Amino acid sequence: MQPHPTEPNRYNSRVLRLRAASPDDLPALRTLIAESVRALSIGFYDDAQRESGLRHVFGVDSQLIADGTYFVFVDDLGALAAAGGWSRRRTLYGGDQAKSGPDDLLDPAREPARIRAFFVHPDFARRGLARRLFTHCRDCARAEGFTALELMATLPGVPLYTALGFTPMVHEDAVLPDGVVLPMVQMRVAVD
Ligand SMILES: CC(C)(COP(=O)(O)OP(=O)(O)OC[C@H]1O[C@@H](n2cnc3c(N)ncnc32)[C@H](O)[C@@H]1OP(=O)(O)O)[C@@H](O)C(=O)NCCC(=O)NCCS
Repeated sequence: MQPHPTEPNRYNSRVLRLRAASPDDLPALRTLIAESVRALSIGFYDDAQRESGLRHVFGVDSQLIADGTYFVFVDDLGALAAAGGWSRRRTLYGGDQAKSGPDDLLDPAREPARIRAFFVHPDFARRGLARRLFTHCRDCARAEGFTALELMATLPGVPLYTALGFTPMVHEDAVLPDGVVLPMVQMRVAVD
């Protein structure tokens, strides 16, 4: 059983609630992801990298929604403020548009769980939502016996994951189908 987030939290008089994402959230998640990437990756990626990344890489992996391991912060008006998840499966990054083939289960005794697809709405940036999402995901993964977490960080994600204790393992220049190069960093942290 995963821990269930129920307590609302108040940020600037807007009450935010953490809950598991559902397939009904998909249209709003696509909007959130586009707004998040377009605003919060300025200074890290150029326009071509942002738009190509949205087309080819950034998005929801709906397997996580099916697994119950993708979460959203919803405000008191029902709008999405942030999203992020973890995975007990092998895929390291990328939305549905980047997936192909089977996505087998990891072995918690030998392999790190994945931290996946964190996107915060620009109106809610730097208010600790990504940190709170991470804490929840880490606790869920730990409850299933995982002892380490791994992810592929976008460049805007690197300061966040560094603050959360992750260390860089591999710097990767992903070449997207249109030839645009998207630098990313594979990072890892032990779960104590
Ligand atoms: C990266 C992202 C998820 C961070 O979300 P967030 O809710 O703003 O992060 P938090 O407020 O929880 O930040 C926690 C800590 O991470 C660090 N941090 C986060 N964003 C940072 C930034 N832009 N610059 C420097 N440090 C940053 C800080 O130490 C921060 O603590 P502080 O605010 O007390 O200094 C958000 O900027 C985002 O959605 N970016 C665009 C999409 C993306 O690239 N996602 C990452 C996918 S791997």
